[in-house]
Amino acid sequence: MTQTIYILNGPNLNLLGKRQPEIYGRETLADVERLCREVLADGTDLRMMQSNWEGQIVDWIHEAREAAAGIVINPGALTHTSVAVLDALNAFERPVIEVHISNVHKRESFRHHSYVSLRADGVIAGLGIEGYVAAVRRLCTLLG
Ligand code: DQA
Repeated sequence: MTQTIYILNGPNLNLLGKRQPEIYGRETLADVERLCREVLADGTDLRMMQSNWEGQIVDWIHEAREAAAGIVINPGALTHTSVAVLDALNAFERPVIEVHISNVHKRESFRHHSYVSLRADGVIAGLGIEGYVAAVRRLCTLLG
């Protein structure tokens, strides 16, 4: 049976590769998906999703309760604002890895707090898009 990893991306990450490349780099979400697929364990698949809408992210986390073995999430700015995303993740009973492309701790102080970190089993920041790859590897290890 195939296990599916959800890779959820929040607001503005559709512009990855185009917005502030000095911070987020020139690679796109399609590049992220390609790199992540290269490290998937046998019997594991992934779904790459992105929305600019908080409610859509919450709905996908609810869907993941039935459909996903683990979640990699880069919530974008929702990281720092969304109790709704935290609550949804608290209702998800399998592993969650939080990813930030940039090192949020080196940036503005409002980026230093993450609601999602209160739930995440692992947190990766500042590795560029390699952070997603590390997160997928970690989930594959945890999922055995
Ligand atoms: C981000 C960091 C957030 O502070 C920011 O709002 C983003 C992207 C990152 O990947 O570095 O949109 O999550």
